[in-house]
Amino acid sequence: MIVVRHTNHGEYDGRPVPAAVLNRLRGRCVEPGITLLLTPDESIKRKVDEFVVRADAIEFADPAFRQELGHWIGQGVFGTSWLMSKIGKLAVTHINMGSATAKKDSTVLMSSPVLGLISTENNERETQIKVGQVYQRLSLLAAAEGIWCQPMSQIVQVEEIKAEVAKLQPQPALFPQHPFRLGFAAPEKHHTPRRDMQDVLV
Ligand SMILES: Cc1cc2nc3c(=O)[nH]c(=O)nc-3n(C[C@H](O)[C@H](O)[C@H](O)COP(=O)(O)O)c2cc1C
Repeated sequence: MIVVRHTNHGEYDGRPVPAAVLNRLRGRCVEPGITLLLTPDESIKRKVDEFVVRADAIEFADPAFRQELGHWIGQGVFGTSWLMSKIGKLAVTHINMGSATAKKDSTVLMSSPVLGLISTENNERETQIKVGQVYQRLSLLAAAEGIWCQPMSQIVQVEEIKAEVAKLQPQPALFPQHPFRLGFAAPEKHHTPRRDMQDVLV
């Protein structure tokens, strides 16, 4: 599944994820002190949607954020063609596209049947690495089930919104680390470019 899985930034088709599949995905989180929440709850989705829109507005008001995002868009990491990546870089860097981005983020979020959140009891670097490992295992198994994922980091990048995300959890004292959405969809036409195998083998 390593060669199949990629982040899917598009609209999902809204088909529900079967409960048995959700339970298999939940089983990918085995580390003590790390919690994985996967929820189809519509009321949580509406609250997260509000957080996404607010976080996009706050982040896009910051020129340094726009410059950094523009750099990555220019590299094609969001699955755009070469031309759209270059145009996107210029647009994001020089224009505040907060409301256009929020609109797209809201549409794709609301199209997702399930939202996920990986949270932790402590906020150590080592724990954060393990969060990434949980997400790797989960998204690889999801790919095997024909399910795509997309991280939604803006809601944990803005401190005041991250605090509100924490309150959505059954255990609000946990640190929210990695929010994402998942669901069924057609594959994206382009995805983040891969390195050659030779470059990453010792
Ligand atoms: C920690 C982390 C946070 C991310 N946050 C976002 C995000 O907020 N929005 C988004 O569209 N993609 C996000 N991504 C996904 C990237 O768009 C994409 O996954 C990355 O460039 C690698 O591409 P791949 O998943 O197709 O291998 C995130 C990825 C990681 C690892």
